[in-house]
Amino acid sequence: MHDFDSRLLPTERESHGICIRKYQPSDAAGLVEAAQESIQTVGAWLDWCTPSYGNAQAEAWIAHAVENWDKGDGFAFAVIDATCGDYLGGVGLNQIDHANRSANLGYWIRQSYQARGVGAQAARLAVGYVFEQLGLTRIEIACAAANRPSRRIAEKTGARYEGLVSGRIQLHGRPVDAAIYSITAPSARRSTG
Ligand SMILES: CC(C)(COP(=O)(O)OP(=O)(O)OC[C@H]1O[C@@H](n2cnc3c(N)ncnc32)[C@H](O)[C@@H]1OP(=O)(O)O)[C@@H](O)C(=O)NCCC(=O)NCCS
Repeated sequence: MHDFDSRLLPTERESHGICIRKYQPSDAAGLVEAAQESIQTVGAWLDWCTPSYGNAQAEAWIAHAVENWDKGDGFAFAVIDATCGDYLGGVGLNQIDHANRSANLGYWIRQSYQARGVGAQAARLAVGYVFEQLGLTRIEIACAAANRPSRRIAEKTGARYEGLVSGRIQLHGRPVDAAIYSITAPSARRSTG
């Protein structure tokens, strides 16, 4: 059970030239183009990003993301350049635990737009959305321990480092250790009970 009707939630949020919004079927072409240019940097950390990723995969994934959003089971956002409308990557909430009001945050930014602050801004927008619109109180970020850029995003979003856990992430068919970070809602911060 959850406290919101996900079909009535705002579908986008924008700040500092970056927009995050609910996926639309028309994002498929941008998603494929972004994935194809990012095999080296995104494919190193996310198994789905391979040279064979094409329209069929993108369309199926977007349909699944929209269905999950409408059911309140996950909130995947396209990251868009607010000025020109270009597709820049994705940020999203998954593994939502409604009973404990927590979720996992993930993100990726296409290679040609990396290291410009886009990932950190998209993550900040998603965190604001989670606390203000979904009423969750804890966001967890699990990065492969060796994934420095991803860990920097967690740090730049103000997340607290909670430690290393063994074999938490499957990467290219093998378990790898993860660095766990958390962000708690302002309303939950002083509660220890
Ligand atoms: C992680 C990712 C989303 C960051 O996106 P981005 O738009 O480049 O992020 P930002 O520009 O906001 O910040 C990136 C930070 O990582 C740092 N960084 C980038 N490449 C790095 C590298 N090879 N080694 C160390 N730090 C690096 C940047 O210097 C920056 O930190 P700074 O602001 O202190 O200088 C992007 O690198 C990516 O898509 N990676 C592949 C997918 C992925 O790993 N997703 C996370 C899975 S948990």
